[in-house]
Amino acid sequence: MIEQIVILDFGSQYTQVIARRIRECNVYSVILRYNTPAKKIAALKPSGIILSGGPASVYAKKAPLPDKAVFGLGVPMLGICYGLQVLAQFLGGKVESGQKREFGKGTLKVRDSFCPLFANLPEQLQVWNSHGDKLTRLPTGFKSVAVTENSDYAGIENRARKMFGLQFHPEVAHTPRGREILANFVHNICGCGKNWTMHAYIEQAVREIRAQVGKDRVILGLSGGVDSSVAAALIHKAVGDQLTCIFVNNGLLRGREAEVVRRVFGNHFKIKLQYENASKLFLRRLKGVTDPERKRKIIGNTFIKVFEGGTRRAGKSKFLAQGTLYPDVIESMPIAGNPAAMIKSHHNVGGLPKRMKFQLVEPLKCLFKDEVRALGLELGLPREIVLRQPFPGPGLAVRILGEVTPLRLEILRNADSIVVGEMKSSGWYYKIWQSFAVLLPVRSVGVMGDERTYDYTIAVRAVESQDGMTADWVKLPYELLEKVANRIVNEVKGVNRCVFDITSKPPGTIEWE
Ligand code: XMP
Repeated sequence: MIEQIVILDFGSQYTQVIARRIRECNVYSVILRYNTPAKKIAALKPSGIILSGGPASVYAKKAPLPDKAVFGLGVPMLGICYGLQVLAQFLGGKVESGQKREFGKGTLKVRDSFCPLFANLPEQLQVWNSHGDKLTRLPTGFKSVAVTENSDYAGIENRARKMFGLQFHPEVAHTPRGREILANFVHNICGCGKNWTMHAYIEQAVREIRAQVGKDRVILGLSGGVDSSVAAALIHKAVGDQLTCIFVNNGLLRGREAEVVRRVFGNHFKIKLQYENASKLFLRRLKGVTDPERKRKIIGNTFIKVFEGGTRRAGKSKFLAQGTLYPDVIESMPIAGNPAAMIKSHHNVGGLPKRMKFQLVEPLKCLFKDEVRALGLELGLPREIVLRQPFPGPGLAVRILGEVTPLRLEILRNADSIVVGEMKSSGWYYKIWQSFAVLLPVRSVGVMGDERTYDYTIAVRAVESQDGMTADWVKLPYELLEKVANRIVNEVKGVNRCVFDITSKPPGTIEWE
């Protein structure tokens, strides 16, 4: 079994960040619900357990608390923020509501430089706090190893039992040397090596896919996005021609999308690729439709119909592969009372109908997005696919306000390829969440040469985001904006005006629809 760290999730918005930081140390980590039975945790043979932060008070009536037996497993433990308070309270310490909330930047003074958590770190560290309650009495056997202006117990330990607690958040970027603290925990205290690499993951995943699939066949809906592309390459490596990818052209794709997918997967990887060109069907059904929700419904239903037809043509298959990622898996286990754990309301129409009886193959379901990208590169997929920004399932239809027509699609494709091209050549494309063009249904007056024009407007959107749930507009340099606008108005026939969207989410959304 692979060495791993178990993270018990008490509802902190940073739990996933902890898991990622641990994996960046090349140590595998899994997130489990706070009340996972100790027996179940023990069965994983974890090298260490981390108790995450959380919004509750440990002394509150409905506070999320772990299975007591967890503290008797003899596994090294680290409690972070609320996790420290849980650990301390269970072992006999006292937690009270603080006089002053400690929030934001603080300075940590390490009192005991022999504490293995702080090995090779200076005696003063910048840390980031976010707590109201504080520990006011240590459990027996514990001592304070670090303090802040506001807390005598910012770092505590019982070295003999390998139990540690941190009142601040080592996982966030505002604790600049927090990664080293977590690395000290996993390597020095838990004794983990550096076994979690994408290379090792490929070998393990290939073995698992082969064991699951046997001699049966697998179908995969390839969208050309990062997740389904990486899943396709990985499954193909495991079971070769037992995999058939179905690529549906819904007529709402960007410029060279269909061509790239066919070139990369069909020609280069030699993956069995079934190309379903249903553009005409989609556009026919969208004719005259302007309401955004109706557009989405039509596209969703048409996709299911086309995909179902495709699977029938591909021949009988026992398995359906999906590029589900770890955050999707974790987000479907929300913790009561925690607003941060709201389930993501995915726009995608509720999956495939039940009548399509498949068993699922989900080889990315324990990976984060950045790991999926690293895996894609390791599998030899081109950067053009691996470093792609997210693109909505209903495609350009959500970026054409009003009716979707072939002419409007053409206008948007041309404008979009200018936006993407300029973002790529300036390097901005790779730094941000999304950047794209939107076609507005209004026409306005302009002048070109001596002629008066009456044409459409393109809105350019560029946003920064972690997960698409919230977003901020990107302050692109004026020179870049100027170039994009000039090119769009000069090169895209039918457009005479270009605007830049400076709305954040909330209150706006990322797509316009
Ligand atoms: P909004 O517009 O809701 O978008 O702020 C949030 C993120 O989700 C993407 N998006 C979709 N992704 N299918 C998808 O797979 C969809 O139907 C869909 N609609 C929006 C959007 O591009 C942004 O990244």
